[in-house]
Amino acid sequence: MSRRESEQDADPPEEGPSAGGVSRRGLLARVGAAALVGAGTGLGAGEVLAPGPGAAGESSTPPRLRMAQTPAPAGGPGRLQPGIIDTPPAFAHVLALDLAGSGSPDRARERAASVLRAWTESAARLHREGPAAVVPGAGAAGLLPASLGVTVGIGASLLAATGRPDARPEALADLPGFATDTLREEWCGGDLLLQVGAEDPMVAASAVQHLLAGAREQVRVRWAVRGFRRTAAAAEDPSAAPRNLMGQIDGTNNPTGSLLERTVQVRRGAGPEWMAGGSYVVVRRIRMLLEDWFGEDVAHRERVIGRDLPTGAPLGQQGADAEVDLTAENPDGGPAVPDRAHIRLASPRNTLGARMLRRGYSFDEGWRPDGTRDAGLLFMAWQADPARGFVPVQRNLADSGDALNEYIRHEGSALFAVPPAARDGDYIGRALLEG
Ligand code: HEM
Repeated sequence: MSRRESEQDADPPEEGPSAGGVSRRGLLARVGAAALVGAGTGLGAGEVLAPGPGAAGESSTPPRLRMAQTPAPAGGPGRLQPGIIDTPPAFAHVLALDLAGSGSPDRARERAASVLRAWTESAARLHREGPAAVVPGAGAAGLLPASLGVTVGIGASLLAATGRPDARPEALADLPGFATDTLREEWCGGDLLLQVGAEDPMVAASAVQHLLAGAREQVRVRWAVRGFRRTAAAAEDPSAAPRNLMGQIDGTNNPTGSLLERTVQVRRGAGPEWMAGGSYVVVRRIRMLLEDWFGEDVAHRERVIGRDLPTGAPLGQQGADAEVDLTAENPDGGPAVPDRAHIRLASPRNTLGARMLRRGYSFDEGWRPDGTRDAGLLFMAWQADPARGFVPVQRNLADSGDALNEYIRHEGSALFAVPPAARDGDYIGRALLEG
């Protein structure tokens, strides 16, 4: 999505204007992430994230191979987990899981704690040593770390099952229904989230296998999507924002720099302590009606989004990075970006400043038994509070008649709290389950 600088912060900022200091490790993570996307930081080119065991040295590595050879940012105290603001790798399995079995809240809490502990430990090893070392004899044998990153989230239903409804943050309130929803129960919700991203599909699949084996008795998969985007190796410009299955450059106008941090990361004091420094992710399984879309001429497709298809420039302007000007006019005096264009209705100017980081993946599950193409966008939006991010934007897209609505169907939906990365010896979510 965003082709600009990605950052990892050392500590969650307090409620208020200060962003806090940056540790050496945080700085290295920042520079490493920035180097991966080719963004200028003003820091020396040699200051990149140290490669882990098995990774080749970076200085001589061509940019298009770096994603394959680099380990994920490891996370750390008070920091966002991997898989949120770092450069998205080409493949991601996204799974929603439910706690297996029934029983008392105490029993559910034990199960949840054992799963989260196992995943935290396994993820740390996968990040540190790479999947080839951790899973002997698996498909990832002989493969490089491939930017493998594991992200773990918690759904509101887990808080209910474990007897902790009191610990539910306001930001984890159920998403409202939207006028354009065509949701299917089997693709909604989940007690737990696992996002496993890697620049190689075999590395991602092996890591998923390993993580699920460690929790086999305690969870069952509720829904899962295998997502993808273009590989860095195949991209003419690996630092450029990629296209989605509709052919549009997607992710251009994502927040960057300090706005990114404020948009995505929960500030200390903004809710329960167990989420300070974490984030919330809204996941929507959005099917694209690709036959209908590609049946339209290019000019129509451009007006639906409000951007030029070849370059990604906002209509009436030059270059994908041009700031969107919603007042720009055509020679005939009409708006260059049409009234119902997606980027007009999604703009912060029309949603009281709502912001989120869109970091989704394409999916293509082939054809359904009735012949319908099952492909689209696994839309994933990261924010500190969905009530000031996804919700007002989706409400405007649904209620004001986004021109894109004719070509898409929202069929799955979920919201997860994604706590900060765990300290050494701790596990993700311990402050919730044992707090
Ligand atoms: C399949 C569904 C969707 C497709 C294909 C799609 C595609 C796009 C494209 C091509 C852009 C312009 C480039 C960019 O800035 O990234 C864009 C912008 C944007 N989209 Fe979507 N989008 C989809 C769904 C959504 C949803 C569900 C939301 C939120 C509820 C959303 C929110 C936004 C926002 C906030 C922008 C940036 C607007 C601006 O400030 O310029 N999109 N989208």
